[in-house]
Amino acid sequence: MRTELFPGIDWVGAVDWSIRDFHSYMTGRGATYNSYLIRDRENAIIDPVKHLFFERWYDNVTRLAKADSIKYIVCNHAEPDHSSGLEQAVRAFPNAQILASQKCRDTIISYLGGADWNWKTIKTGDQVSLGSRTLSFIETPMVHWPDSTFTYVPEDELLFSMDAFGQHFATAERFDDEVDLAVVMEEAKIYYANIVAPHANSVKKALGLAGGLKIKMIAPSHGLVWRKNPAAIIKAYQGWAANQVKPRIVVFYDSMWESTTRMAEAIVDGADQPGLFVSLIHVRRTHLTQIATQFLDAAAFAAGSSTINNLLMPAMAATLTYIQGMRLTNKAGFAFGSYGWAAKGGPDQVEEYLKKGGYNIIQPTLKFPWRPTPALLEEGRKAGRLLAEKALAATNP
Ligand code: FEO
Repeated sequence: MRTELFPGIDWVGAVDWSIRDFHSYMTGRGATYNSYLIRDRENAIIDPVKHLFFERWYDNVTRLAKADSIKYIVCNHAEPDHSSGLEQAVRAFPNAQILASQKCRDTIISYLGGADWNWKTIKTGDQVSLGSRTLSFIETPMVHWPDSTFTYVPEDELLFSMDAFGQHFATAERFDDEVDLAVVMEEAKIYYANIVAPHANSVKKALGLAGGLKIKMIAPSHGLVWRKNPAAIIKAYQGWAANQVKPRIVVFYDSMWESTTRMAEAIVDGADQPGLFVSLIHVRRTHLTQIATQFLDAAAFAAGSSTINNLLMPAMAATLTYIQGMRLTNKAGFAFGSYGWAAKGGPDQVEEYLKKGGYNIIQPTLKFPWRPTPALLEEGRKAGRLLAEKALAATNP
């Protein structure tokens, strides 16, 4: 395995090949907890790893440097997938000082204790010299926790970006040019949609700060290092953070006896216009991680539910709650669905979710009793054509 980013700077992290659930995020390709070792006059580690992987991490570090030679451990982020190995690390690297922002230090202490550990708090603009290299710190709050920090090495134009620009992608390779770029970009999009999307404004600020830096390589705390294509992932983040949409329509729904399914299909029929990509998603058969990823850059959507016990279908409630958390209001949409003996039910509740989410609701809720008639299905096709019109206008102004 090639681990060298630059002479004297190596990846020393851990690969979690079998993880499939990361606090509800379906990690179909596993994950990595990246950590980097800089060997200089003073040796420094950038980020610990998840505590379950401490031994692998320790082995990777000590293959290259003696444990007592580690002078600094930088903590760019307090979330336990990175910081939980610190408790073992303070014993294993007895001469290391922990460099972290005040918020990062406080959060790690809340999780692990360690108020008496050897801390040095850092803030934006602080620098620590390792000899021939410098660690320069930039706080990037809410990308995606309050403690998030970038560490930059100006001599190599290397940005350690913690979760930003990351992907959950377990591989034996370490660099973007060693795997299919389309797959790395797909995983980066899934990561952005499911972890970073609610914090678009903070991402914009961080991109502004990083925009003043010369960047030759980006080393995130998950997945592949952007050695060949750092500009591509920065450009993708600029688009996502600006809430740019693609000519894409997503119709997602759940159905009891296929009445809402029939209407969903009619909407797709009407929406399927040249230049548009239309997806139909049955939410009870599709993971939230995939739904969120398709929703991220869709220009328009329709959300449907039949009625169960006077309420919407539970999987639709979960989906609408999850996408509401993404805080994306750049979409045109409407609600639809069926009901039985209770005149108010699933479709009305979907409408309530859409109102709360702040979306641009482009037509009254398309609701109907029991089974959609041919005339109602034609209404669905008409609503689909309206979605297509809105989607094309949003992406081709
Ligand atoms: Fe990879 Fe926000 O932790």
